[in-house]
Amino acid sequence: SIVSSKYRTAYHFQPPKNWINVSDPTFFFLSFKILINRQSFQICDYSKDPNGPMYYNGIYHQFYQYNPNGSLWGNIVWGHSISTDLINWIRLDPAIERTSPSDINGCWTGSTTILKGHQPAIIYTGADTQMRQVQNIVFPKNVSDPYLRDWIKPDNNPLIQPIGQGLNSKQFRDPTTGWIGPDGLWRIAVGAELNGYSAALLYKSEDFVNWTRVDHPLYSSNASTMWECPDFFAVLPGKNSGLDLSIAIPDGAKHVLKMSLDNCDKYMIGVYDLKNDAFVPDTVLEDRRLWSRIDYGNYYASKSFFDSKKGRRIIWGWTNETDSSSDDVAKGWAGIHAIPRTIWLDSNSKQLLQWPVEEIESLRREEVSRQGLELKQGDLFEIKGIDTLQASFFSVADPARGFLEQADVEIDFELTSIDSADPFDPSWLLDIEKHCREADASVHGSVGPFGLVVLASDNMEEHTSVHFRVYKSQAKYMILMCSDLRKSSLRTELYTPAYGGFFELDLEKEKTISLRTLIDRSAVESFGGGGRVCIMARVYPVALIDGSTRMYAFNNGTSNVRVHQLKAWSMRRAQVNLKKG
Ligand code: FRU
Repeated sequence: SIVSSKYRTAYHFQPPKNWINVSDPTFFFLSFKILINRQSFQICDYSKDPNGPMYYNGIYHQFYQYNPNGSLWGNIVWGHSISTDLINWIRLDPAIERTSPSDINGCWTGSTTILKGHQPAIIYTGADTQMRQVQNIVFPKNVSDPYLRDWIKPDNNPLIQPIGQGLNSKQFRDPTTGWIGPDGLWRIAVGAELNGYSAALLYKSEDFVNWTRVDHPLYSSNASTMWECPDFFAVLPGKNSGLDLSIAIPDGAKHVLKMSLDNCDKYMIGVYDLKNDAFVPDTVLEDRRLWSRIDYGNYYASKSFFDSKKGRRIIWGWTNETDSSSDDVAKGWAGIHAIPRTIWLDSNSKQLLQWPVEEIESLRREEVSRQGLELKQGDLFEIKGIDTLQASFFSVADPARGFLEQADVEIDFELTSIDSADPFDPSWLLDIEKHCREADASVHGSVGPFGLVVLASDNMEEHTSVHFRVYKSQAKYMILMCSDLRKSSLRTELYTPAYGGFFELDLEKEKTISLRTLIDRSAVESFGGGGRVCIMARVYPVALIDGSTRMYAFNNGTSNVRVHQLKAWSMRRAQVNLKKG
């Protein structure tokens, strides 16, 4: 239907099926295929958590929680796609299927470890015949197959059973990538509920196959009951080069423990205490609403890996649909992944920074740019794709209309006066979304709101705004970033929150606040302050169906804001899982 083809993202990773549309010439070929082999065509499919990402022998592998038979959760297997650039993906057959008693009810989330630098192994959670969660292993059947299509299950699965004091067999899953401790033994962590609280349980092994539970967890907390998808990795302050966990970690490195709970991915920065074999966070906050977040929007179950090709750490997260499940069935697909992001530690060691992998820039075309634009209170500056001859010449569609439905926008906002910034109230941190609703884009502040309005209909009845407000908190400045979806669509039955996150910025030194937003039809993915706050969102504007959305930079604060530099590009479509490999 028209709806599904317009909301389907063009360069975010998503499930492979239902890619036909009736105007597509391949449809006729396909309908023939469908007639002879009904199996090869299913109306719906559903994907979620990224699983076991890795770079191996020149190829990136992305696995994911995948339901090949419907657009809702169930029948979970490991979908498998490969890429050489993290942007264009070829779909292969599922890598792990529900074939043994230890995973017959689902092949759930897990991670890849490359043993001895050349032998990939995946440990994943299986839901067994009694729906207990157990940990299983698979190895590539043939490491010389460049695509690693087939994976075999040794007879000794499950490797780890949910037994031991305080364990809940239904809350014991999502093993991490392995790392080697000072004693030369392998370790992995498994997300669990331990005595009613959340824990990253620690297991040790000499051969990666026989595991024993260490008598204390890597880390546990009584602030919540269960952590899904733990991730544990090392980072160097101020360096965006990544570290490989299975080699010696240099002095000065910090460790990060990421966990998925409350529908979001949170993290703690700390040190890995080798003597006690435990993670020690730099600060422990009792109230989990205050924990830092990988992303303040729709982003869950992320997994990171060390990319040895470019020496960086990359993180992937899952972004769900926010329309109704009946819409998902009508669309025929559900679930995308956020753009892979390079992730590193800020030089102050206080927070992680993230930025879309540079490869995404290869999709840019038709640049529009502006410098030195003064935005006074109430100004709305339209960003259009008609600035250059090239744009109007090469555009398939009318370049002024629909040009920015697939776009990459970067704006540096320069603040002219910050002294008058409104005072910060720390209680906002407990419910940032509430503050974004109350102090929305129409509410004047002293410095801000200023930012972007995207996917707006002609009369602004539909629009999504991504904006900042500057607050003064004693000697420092706190910047609020909101992504307000409440007016994103005239359609009903959508989840349309006003997402928000805060970050600190030394505005005396840095007078600019940067915003980068990737717009991809139903996805709006934003990076504020150079990746200090990231907000991933899904929107379903009716205007998108008519092909007529607009984009603006705006300021609604009393102080002027200067657009030091604005650049926008239309984005080409990527080849995401189009063909069967
Ligand atoms: C996270 C999660 C994991 C589990 C998988 C099942 O989204 O619930 O904890 O392994 O999904 O699909």
